Amino acid sequence: MDRGVPRAATYQASPNIALVKYWGIRDTARMLPYNTSLSVTLSGLVTKTVVRFDPELTADELRLNGKRTGGGPLLAASRFLERIRQEAKLEMAASIVTRNNFPTASGLASSASGFAALAGAASRAAGLAEAPATLSIRARFGSGSACRSIYGGFVEWQAGRRPDGHDCYAKPLFEPGHWPELIDLVAIVADAPEKEVRSQDAMQLSVATSREYQTRLRSIPRRVAAMRRAIRLRDASQLFPLIMEECDDFRHVCETTDPSLDYLTETSRNILEAVGELNGTEGRAVAAYTHDAGAHVHVFTLARDLRKVRDALEEVKGIRRTVRLTPGPGGRYLGRAAKPRR
Ligand code: PMV
Repeated sequence: MDRGVPRAATYQASPNIALVKYWGIRDTARMLPYNTSLSVTLSGLVTKTVVRFDPELTADELRLNGKRTGGGPLLAASRFLERIRQEAKLEMAASIVTRNNFPTASGLASSASGFAALAGAASRAAGLAEAPATLSIRARFGSGSACRSIYGGFVEWQAGRRPDGHDCYAKPLFEPGHWPELIDLVAIVADAPEKEVRSQDAMQLSVATSREYQTRLRSIPRRVAAMRRAIRLRDASQLFPLIMEECDDFRHVCETTDPSLDYLTETSRNILEAVGELNGTEGRAVAAYTHDAGAHVHVFTLARDLRKVRDALEEVKGIRRTVRLTPGPGGRYLGRAAKPRR
């Protein structure tokens, strides 16, 4: 390693919620997805990570929210760092100190912000190139959705077609400030179970067993194009039905997977129903629900309709709280002063 290369670096990134879900990997070695996905990076929620390559260490160490952590999270982080070390021709172990400014147990803790932050911090600490496009490609080896969290606002991860993956990368579509009226009200459900199956494994089960998977793949290009257009025009009447159509299609693929994947709880299902009823009563799409491989539900609406949506959600039993989010910035490096506490 060069003497001039810094060995510690800090990077922060936010989670994102997919409006078109990535679900299925066509090449696991290169982490190439079957389908293009489209997401919104979320404001306010931040993962801050410091990586320090240290010649004194004999093995990688992880501190997560102030606690020394081993097991699965350390293993996943270590496996990720192994790729960085190989690329940088570096043999040192590292200490990773990472903090979320939101409760990890809330279910909002996303692997996306975690691996985006780890990719950024580890790349600089190892003296590797730091262009966002390069960080995004590295981040996807930790978790596919992490490649989108390097960028802010509305982001598309192009699946590409080439076997070598050179046309597979994330790119920013619209800045966070493109649509200031758009709100993501996340309903945190009280009955959310601990997640059992890793998304990466679950999606491969869908590819192998769901009879609806191929139909879903064929519908994605049209849906992505229509969403891109609706977002460009800031047209909620076009976008909201598309968000729900995509979410229903994703859930249908999960349900037809063998064994079936059911991420929702009774409360989550009641939220989907409440949003449907609200739209029915209003005679227009006032709101749109979506969820990922978990029980919490993201409800999109516009600032002018927020009151109506809040009122409708208040009727649903089992919501612990709602968190109001907007499109937010992408990842960035922080100076020494901004390091999280150990
Ligand atoms: O990036 P992973 O391995 O956590 O998988 C993400 C899967 C979904 O959240 C359901 C979809 C997505 O595109 O974020």
